[in-house]
Amino acid sequence: MNEKPLRNDATLLDIFLRVRDEPRNDFIIPGHKRQGHLLDEGLGRLVDGDVPLYGGLDSIKQTDNALRHAESRAATFYDADWCRFSSGGSTHTNQALALALGQPGDVVIASRSLHRSMLLGFVLADLRPVWLPTHIDDHCGLPRGTSIDDVATALASYPGAVALVLTEPGYVGTMSDLQAICELTHQYGVPVLVDQAWGAHFGAHPELPRHALANGADAMVTSTHKLLVGYSQASVAAARTQRLDRDRLDRGFEATQTTSPAGTILASSDASRALMETRGAELFDRVLALVRSARRRLREEVPGLLVPDEETFGSGRFDPTRLIIQLVPLGIDGIEVERHLSQNGISLEFADRDTLMPLITVVDTEESVSSLLDQLIPFLLDARGEIREFSTALSWRVQPVQALSPREAFFARHERVESSMAIGRVSAELVAPYPPGVPVLAPGEVVTRELVEGLLEVARSGVRIAYAADPSLTTLEVVA
Ligand SMILES: Cc1ncc(COP(=O)(O)O)c(C=O)c1O
Repeated sequence: MNEKPLRNDATLLDIFLRVRDEPRNDFIIPGHKRQGHLLDEGLGRLVDGDVPLYGGLDSIKQTDNALRHAESRAATFYDADWCRFSSGGSTHTNQALALALGQPGDVVIASRSLHRSMLLGFVLADLRPVWLPTHIDDHCGLPRGTSIDDVATALASYPGAVALVLTEPGYVGTMSDLQAICELTHQYGVPVLVDQAWGAHFGAHPELPRHALANGADAMVTSTHKLLVGYSQASVAAARTQRLDRDRLDRGFEATQTTSPAGTILASSDASRALMETRGAELFDRVLALVRSARRRLREEVPGLLVPDEETFGSGRFDPTRLIIQLVPLGIDGIEVERHLSQNGISLEFADRDTLMPLITVVDTEESVSSLLDQLIPFLLDARGEIREFSTALSWRVQPVQALSPREAFFARHERVESSMAIGRVSAELVAPYPPGVPVLAPGEVVTRELVEGLLEVARSGVRIAYAADPSLTTLEVVA
């Protein structure tokens, strides 16, 4: 344990700790008044730590002073000149950024392996995406990110584009050559927005990739609740406003922000920033050592297993804290592995037929990682099957034919038809295997036989199909 408490470096955490147990006689929301225990012990444990922003971390008159102070410390940390904390997840911050761009009907150049939240941001803002394909690594079947050549072609073909929107890192920790892409894109005067939901720890240690702004991006969002220590739904958006309009950023943020932010969530983003600033290098030294030793053990004890690392993707192109286990060369079914681990009380962030991805974070220890490997390795040794090819996850393979803009299709009259009858029609809905939450079908895109069959196969393999109106995929919603 660190001797200096984190609250010394995190104003919102400090206020939260003072306010949480302070006796009050308030007549404001939330209705539980942090006194749930008066009604029921379990209810008390659930709601008594719920300190709101207004009437909690801040006065009911909403001075915003403490929050602004915390956000400006984060802005300094990221070398940004605009920064906001959200209690609505990177879903909210992505949509806020989308609303800060251009005019309805404008073109954005975007990676097709973006998260559904940003695609729905395009619906809200009526932005028309020109999609960039995701490139797949032949050796390990994983997405490598966006190629600079594809960006160059799109910039030359769409001179009116109002932004380039990328997801960096992608869900499995791989990255594009972001610095070079930002330099190129800026030559066209176009801002670069990066969804860095999975990179909240970037920049906290010299061996980690730099965060998106340090690589030249104009704006980024990050989920502090993912790979740092934020409360669920904690997210931060940060920007440099040379190529973006500060007022539009604020307006986009406020338009989609709750009027009752949970102070607990906001304070956890402040605490996450303080933790990185004060102990990031030390904590990620340990995470990196844990992940490297787990990779070594897996390679030694399960010969033939593919465990990619920084060398697989190149320097700065992979988050070295990611432990990715590729089962294809041994013919093992990842869903069966997941089931076995789950029966033994272990959940993995991601498992599909070919890939396992346990997340190792700053709270893991040698014991926690060993106990995962002690369960995993014997099962892998027993479960070898027939060697097969990579069936690169459907989510990375989509190359859509767009018939309508996402917004036109979202609001169009629609009907529900048998999936086989939907082929050749225009999708009215968004369908995404989750995780990773990358839309395989998006509003406005033509439904193809390959996509329908691919989705059915993913569903049969045990992956959850999210957001479809009919999760069994017997029917699909198409534009009437
Ligand atoms: C790349 C990406 N962006 C944004 C989000 C949304 O983040 P949140 O869950 O914080 O709303 C996710 C969620 O998984 C994601 O993977």
